[in-house]
Amino acid sequence: MVDVILGLQWGDEGKGKIVDYFAPEYDIIARFQGGPNAGHTLYVDGKKMVLHQIPSGIFHQNTINIIGNGVVLDPVTLKRECDAVAAYGVDVRKNLFISQRTNIIVPTHRALDKASELQKGESKIGSTLKGIGPAYMDKTGRNALRVGDLLHPNFSKQYTDLRNKHQVLLDNFNFTEDISASEQEFFEALEFLKTLNVINCEYFINDNISKGKKVLAEGAQGSMLDIDFGTFPFVTSSNTTSAGVCTGLGVSPRQINDVLGVTKAYCTRVGGGPFPTELHDATGEELRRIGSEFGATTGRPRRCGWIDLVALKFACMINGVSKIIMTKADVLDSFNELNVCTAYNLGGTQTTEVPFQMSGIDIEPVWKSFAGWNMDTTAIKEAAALPETMSTYIDFINNYVGAPVKFVSNGPGREQIVRL
Ligand code: GDP
Ligand code: IMO
Ligand code: MG
Repeated sequence: MVDVILGLQWGDEGKGKIVDYFAPEYDIIARFQGGPNAGHTLYVDGKKMVLHQIPSGIFHQNTINIIGNGVVLDPVTLKRECDAVAAYGVDVRKNLFISQRTNIIVPTHRALDKASELQKGESKIGSTLKGIGPAYMDKTGRNALRVGDLLHPNFSKQYTDLRNKHQVLLDNFNFTEDISASEQEFFEALEFLKTLNVINCEYFINDNISKGKKVLAEGAQGSMLDIDFGTFPFVTSSNTTSAGVCTGLGVSPRQINDVLGVTKAYCTRVGGGPFPTELHDATGEELRRIGSEFGATTGRPRRCGWIDLVALKFACMINGVSKIIMTKADVLDSFNELNVCTAYNLGGTQTTEVPFQMSGIDIEPVWKSFAGWNMDTTAIKEAAALPETMSTYIDFINNYVGAPVKFVSNGPGREQIVRL
């Protein structure tokens, strides 16, 4: 069976920590979408580690980690990350496997990302500029290079043809950038990639499932960044929701068991686009300061606000969430009052549905207020020790979204998690 852990908001919900926590219960951890735009933070021996391409189960010796076909892979980032985890004694040749069908990010994808954002000007998406959009465009445009192509004698020609296609587009954008240095690095990284375990992933994973092995699919980004169901066009270019697991790994919907949705106890977003519950005041700054809300991939300050239950309920519906994991509850420890958004006011009309287009319209949140718990919760290990005010807050969320919060994360450490 396959369980899924994915983000229910706009990314950075703490998926990396949660996947690392659950990893010992699984035989295989597999990324199914996204690419190096992801930044998943976990702590190994007390030291902070941010993973962009490698699944967050990599530090568990007996866990196989898979980069699935739905991922877009930057060989340069991968090589760098493999070197970084090797310093912790991880043998990537033993427990990292990459699908032959995984699409490759080439240096001109990053240039195209920049060119496209520059052209958009004020209305730019705020992309991480890792080449994600252009790489997925080449996938759906049927131009992409895939990891399995690397071993084909024709690969150089395939690469040159693609690069030339990209040059025409870059000329159209009037964008010039010398990519020769990054091209050199790219080719070196490809040689390294060839030495890793490249597999026929769909057979590998299904064989393992039929042998009774347990698979955990690790989502990147968040549901509100989903290409179909997110705040389009301010989204990423993949299906971040649970449906993406099937196409991103080659498993059937009948294999999907638990869908564990991760949400912060409040809400953040990095990059442009609608964010109805964003706080532009001192409270928002407090959330950013206490929660250290700065992007793990780009270092940009994250926009902060109260939890948005309209969006959260929508995300639970689209994903079929069976259990919720609430992270960063400790960040709310010192707030006297907490707010949750229970509806959107759209120019006088109230709705509890996520509108198809959220940009360019005024969305005023309808708030419900809760008392804060005003105590340090970071050392709590048992549900019974959690403050009553936190239980009230969580009970309301459970009832509103129709899925239960089963775990509360109360600090960044691996052991800081309370099972409810
Ligand atoms: P991801 O992209 O979903 O894996 O999340 P990020 O790693 O980008 O951002 C989450 C940040 O919050 C990281 O710095 C984590 O170390 C941190 N974090 C995760 N869970 C908790 C928690 O429960 N409390 C606190 N204070 N920090 C947390
Ligand atoms: P993790 O996995 C938060 C955002 C970018 C931008 C938009 C499109 O760490 O949760 P892209 O690079 O995909 O073209 O950017 O999506 N974004 C993320 N925000 N966490 C992420 O990943 C993100 N990956 C992309 O900021 O607004
Ligand atoms: Mg992140």
